[in-house]
Amino acid sequence: MNKIKSIVVAGLALTAGLMSCDSGDKRRTPGHIYAPDMTYSRAYDAYTSNPNFEDGLTSRPPVAGSIARGHELPDHLTEGDTNAYKTFNSQLRFDENELAEGKRLFNIYCAICHGMNLDGQGPLFNSGKFASMPANLKDAKYLHMPSGQIYAAIKYGKNMMGSYASQLDGKQRWMVIAYIKKVQSENGGDAYTYAAAPAAAAEVAPAAPAAEAAHH
Ligand code: HEC
Repeated sequence: MNKIKSIVVAGLALTAGLMSCDSGDKRRTPGHIYAPDMTYSRAYDAYTSNPNFEDGLTSRPPVAGSIARGHELPDHLTEGDTNAYKTFNSQLRFDENELAEGKRLFNIYCAICHGMNLDGQGPLFNSGKFASMPANLKDAKYLHMPSGQIYAAIKYGKNMMGSYASQLDGKQRWMVIAYIKKVQSENGGDAYTYAAAPAAAAEVAPAAPAAEAAHH
């Protein structure tokens, strides 16, 4: 009997002892941790301060001249350099979907002035609230306008027309230009040159080396 009693007492004492470890007292030591450099990175974390750089930031801006994946090379045009932009063009070619996207972007950003029909009769001008006549892109004056000049108009604006550089990235500008050139080609302008080779043909028969070379 005594033996059982002392076991129970010992058990209670042990329980009380264990509980006191977790009694809500503030712990003043962090305890031990296994492999701390797995828990606490030895590298600088993003958004933490960093003594190695003058600006104290760990997250670095991209190196000057970096181009985001999938983006166009910079165009290096400067405002007013008409010689440069009149000969400027793009290697990009667009399929039907991209051409449709060019049309969509034109209708969002340009049609308010230039009109959905590209005839300069957009609702803003027609309302009388915009004094300057937007270019009638179907007019002889603009039908043969070099693509690079349209590009410059988008990038820098032209007199009363503001710049659309911040609304349209490089590829989007060319999609809009391709759409304009497509419509112009159907209204007496130059032949349309931005059509991508139909993807289906390339998939069905991989071009023979000779045909491939002829393309370049
Ligand atoms: C707020 C009205 C407005 C909007 C929006 C607008 N334009 Fe214009 N645009 C004009 C006016 C006005 C002119 C005539 C400028 C001049 O020759 O004085 C013009 C001229 C042009 C020209 C002729 C440039 C040249 O060198 O003569 C092109 C090309 C052109 N716009 C394309 C666009 C495209 C593409 C967009 C859409 C990204 C666009 N415009 C959006 C008003 C606008």
